[in-house]
Amino acid sequence: MKSGGLERRDTVMVVDDVPDNLRLLGEILSPHGLRVLQFREAAHALKAAVAAPPDLFLLDVLMPEMDGFELCRRLKTEEPLREIPVLFVSALSDTESILQGFEVGGVDYIPRPLQEQEVLARVLTQLKLRRYQTDLESLVEERTQELRRTQVALLQKEKLASIGRLVAGIAHEINNPSAYVRSNLETLAEYTQAFRRQGELVTQLLEQVAQLDTQTLPAPLAQTADALDRHRRREDLHAVEADTTDVIQASVHGMDRITAIVRSLNSFARVDETGERESVNLQGAVENALTVVRTQLKHDYNVVTELEPGLEAWGNPGQLEQVCVNVLLNARDATPKGGEIRITTRADRGEAVIAIADGGPGIPPEIQDKIFDPFFTTKPVGSGTGLGLSVSHQILTGLNGSITARDTDPDGHRPGTEFEIRLPLSP
Ligand SMILES: Nc1ncnc2c1ncn2[C@@H]1O[C@H](COP(=O)(O)OP(=O)(O)OP(=O)(O)O)[C@@H](O)[C@H]1O
Ligand SMILES: [Mg+2]
Repeated sequence: MKSGGLERRDTVMVVDDVPDNLRLLGEILSPHGLRVLQFREAAHALKAAVAAPPDLFLLDVLMPEMDGFELCRRLKTEEPLREIPVLFVSALSDTESILQGFEVGGVDYIPRPLQEQEVLARVLTQLKLRRYQTDLESLVEERTQELRRTQVALLQKEKLASIGRLVAGIAHEINNPSAYVRSNLETLAEYTQAFRRQGELVTQLLEQVAQLDTQTLPAPLAQTADALDRHRRREDLHAVEADTTDVIQASVHGMDRITAIVRSLNSFARVDETGERESVNLQGAVENALTVVRTQLKHDYNVVTELEPGLEAWGNPGQLEQVCVNVLLNARDATPKGGEIRITTRADRGEAVIAIADGGPGIPPEIQDKIFDPFFTTKPVGSGTGLGLSVSHQILTGLNGSITARDTDPDGHRPGTEFEIRLPLSP
């Protein structure tokens, strides 16, 4: 970024209507490694300078058509030229002329007749000053960029860490109660067996009582048997007994699902940890990510998966899941309800690939090169931070992988975007 002194020759643009003056200045400057561009007309010089700005102007003051002061004024109105130092060369050595030279934006005024050493010293001094200035500017620019990058990295880290803490906290809170609910359900299933057996015996007993002659039965026994029979019919206890097992089974199943979600949340929360690499099963990573976003997708989208079983990549499971979550959430935001989100995995050219295609409108060409920039978002204020893709990009770069987006159908018959996540297959 720095314009070092050695690799490039400084260019001095000399404008003077007298050919002898031009030659003289050329003879003074050229032997000192300077590139000298000579112009006899101010208008030509201006045009050439706009096309290719020099490092310094050396202007004669008295010229027909446009004089040196006027040319300097115009140079100061051209954005890329205004910072370039202008030196005047003139036989006019009265104070007023000299002052005018400074007024229009000149930095020095060299009197004629020219003293070779003096011209050289003044020109080289101005060039050196200009060098310092541009070096300083690019240094400031460089440092500003660096600061911004650091700030972004810190913010991203902070965002990840706080989401991680939140998720880990929730997962922990859910973990405990779900463990005892699961175990209670199993106990309940055992108790139900006992009640069911009792129910069978009661039914048997009632059947036997029904066989007996009602006249010979003691009245209280007959009444209780009758009440029991009516109760069983009214509550449809037969059906209840049969149903209880199903209800408990379904609850056990539900608890297993909660446990799976908690597991996914935990691996999501691990993202900001060491990021150590290991073999990652892509199917597992995609399924975990889907579990995390399932509540967000509800049943509003048609999620289609084609996952190659056993395909492994070299990366970090938590981080990869987070990338998938970010891309899936974007796919959801882009796709109209009822639309399709398709996730496929495959091995390709020595890499493992997860492709996530949505049914959205596609990414407009004018923002395609911005979507991975931190804080770039087209979502309403408060709804998107613009960090999803930049974090994903950062994660994948750290894992020697990549993430790219393309139109699913460049002809535009079927709109949508496909994000391709790539990771090495092995270390
Ligand atoms: N599948 C997609 N279809 C169309 N545009 C997309 C898609 N994915 C991302 N974009 C565009 O890229 C922008 C940046 O996405 P990114 O995930 O980085 O941030 P965000 O989704 O806006 O906010 P955040 O993810 O931080 O909540 C989005 O605002 C959107 O304009
Ligand atoms: Mg996003």
